[in-house]
Amino acid sequence: MKNNKKTPALIARGRDFIKSNRGRKQFGEMSDQMKGMKNPLLQKDFPKDAELIDLPSPLKFEMGTAPLLEVINQRRSRRKYTDEPLTLAELSFLLWCTQGIKRIFRDGYVSLRTVPSAGSRHAFETYLLIKNVSDIKPGLYRFLAVEHKLLPLVQDAPDIFQKAAAASCNQPFVASAAVTFVWTTIPYRCEWRYRELSHKVIAIDAGHVCQNLYLAAESIGAGTCAIAAYYQDEMDELLGVDGKDEFVIYLAPVGKIP
Ligand SMILES: Cc1cc2nc3c(=O)[nH]c(=O)nc-3n(C[C@H](O)[C@H](O)[C@H](O)COP(=O)(O)O)c2cc1C
Repeated sequence: MKNNKKTPALIARGRDFIKSNRGRKQFGEMSDQMKGMKNPLLQKDFPKDAELIDLPSPLKFEMGTAPLLEVINQRRSRRKYTDEPLTLAELSFLLWCTQGIKRIFRDGYVSLRTVPSAGSRHAFETYLLIKNVSDIKPGLYRFLAVEHKLLPLVQDAPDIFQKAAAASCNQPFVASAAVTFVWTTIPYRCEWRYRELSHKVIAIDAGHVCQNLYLAAESIGAGTCAIAAYYQDEMDELLGVDGKDEFVIYLAPVGKIP
């Protein structure tokens, strides 16, 4: 479609979203960071009395030794999974590869992770729909990247996996995964510095996270498939996020492959 006067407004808006909308005049406009406003937290808060679940330490991983070229060559989107559970160590490995924190600095407000992120803003939270992971009760969890632990959110909700598949525009393989990664974004973490320039880089950053999941999953005999087709309101509701200051941006079911 040619970019002329006849370009429909919604298409034009979509195209603008992926442009670098950084006009020279925008340098004059103050971000909240420039105004001296407090740095947003690098992780969503959680109740301090919550019972967290320990994950095997990244320092002790025995995975991740497959040759990179081999893993890259075999990577593809996998939509069929076996009934074999993932081990807790494997889940820990996948979480580390996608959002693991290597270093925290500037008074606890900036993190360097296993994935790159524009300005190191890392504007994501990782939720997990766990169905078949050894030693973990099925349910909804949130990964606490700072602690490298799991925060239990919802258990005893056996229909949650079917609901997730329905909310994923009825893509049934979501319900058969051992675990589905659901990434939300908290845009203000990035907007604090980049204002209206944030949203393009948040979307790009989500791609880095999911690509690491693809490669990490392949390296342990598992597979994943990126999903961007989902019903926003249903998926936000499933996770219990407000859909405004935090909302789902991407998801990826993972399971062992035949
Ligand atoms: C941003 C993005 C969104 C996607 N959304 C879906 C989806 O909703 N459902 C699906 O089955 N596959 C989805 N895919 C997977 C693509 O269909 C797949 O990557 C493509 O067909 C190429 O196949 P390959 O990944 O095996 O190389 C998505 C991939 C990306 C990168």
